[in-house]
Amino acid sequence: FPLKQYNTFGIDARAKLFARFESVEELQALLKMPEIQKEEKLVLGGGSNLLFTKDFDGVVLQNGIKGIKVLREDETHVYVEAGGGEIWHTFVLYALQQNYGGVENLSLIPGTVGAAPLQNIGAYGVELKDTFHELEAVHLQTGEVQIFDNATCKFGYRESIFKNDLKGQYVVTSVVFRLNKKHTLNTSYGAITTTLEEMQVQQPSIQDISAAVCHIRQSKLPDPSQIGNAGSFFKNPEIPLEQYQQLKEQYPAIPSYPVSETTVKVPAGWLIEQCGWKGKVLGNYGVHKNQALVLVNYGGAKGEQVRQLAYDIITSVEQKFGIQLHPEVNIL
Ligand code: EPU
Repeated sequence: FPLKQYNTFGIDARAKLFARFESVEELQALLKMPEIQKEEKLVLGGGSNLLFTKDFDGVVLQNGIKGIKVLREDETHVYVEAGGGEIWHTFVLYALQQNYGGVENLSLIPGTVGAAPLQNIGAYGVELKDTFHELEAVHLQTGEVQIFDNATCKFGYRESIFKNDLKGQYVVTSVVFRLNKKHTLNTSYGAITTTLEEMQVQQPSIQDISAAVCHIRQSKLPDPSQIGNAGSFFKNPEIPLEQYQQLKEQYPAIPSYPVSETTVKVPAGWLIEQCGWKGKVLGNYGVHKNQALVLVNYGGAKGEQVRQLAYDIITSVEQKFGIQLHPEVNIL
């Protein structure tokens, strides 16, 4: 089964089997089938955070569970449930239309609602965990349904229990968000403020914030429907403050975000650009010209080639700065 249409990198890999489900019951029925039970399983959302380096010798399960509905509300919040197969940005648009706040900074992130908690998607000062209430997941071996609340998910920077202790064990079938009726805008990210000024917005609404975020993303990040990519390929590394201060003497322009009193996060994009990779074209793949953190497939690249490029980048950043980069994308 060809997977090219099912990964935003546009890698031409194949799977032995492919099945789509549109409800929890359909999924459970699939998981009971002996020919599926014996196979290795890969759950696909939007396929926007993975790189195939070889064919997948198992069954790919595509989450097609749709639907967005209000479960309950109080004076300040509304609890909204969204199917795991909903496109993330469709959910954001719903929230904007209903005037529910909390996910506007996460506008235009590729992928699905069901995939979003796995890596605690984040952008422009906001993370999924800030509005996450709970999720429902189905165990791939037993078919059992389980609820995970915010604490149980062990969210971190692009991390959750589903990328660690429970890796590959569950399918997220739906997510409940706790959205705000009274909005608290997050404009901590410099580019948002600048863009709002350009837009001549004095008192921004959540819709204005979303418009600003969409504008920033579209100017920096390649559209996966035009150029194959999976967003940030690496995580921004966290380094000890001491190491940062030493680097700062040598590279006064090195940017950073505080993490704790003893650690800072350094933008991987900056490190990669300093190593001369930004805009690099190697035949039909390379490093995006506007954002060095994004690797791109111009069409026809092999996953193995992109992985090699990632390794070469890791090595050169390590040599120049003594900092180890880690992929954010799931390499299969
Ligand atoms: N920078 C460079 N060169 C580059 C890219 C960035 O010097 O080629 C510098 C910028 O000048 C800026 C800093 O790095 O000072 C930060 O850049 P940017 O605002 O583009 O954000 P980022 O740290 O590179 C992270 C997320 C993005 C998210 C943005 C905005 C990670 C791994 N990436 O990128 O998330 O959209 O912040 O919040 O944390 C994703 O995860 O797929 C993703 C796109």
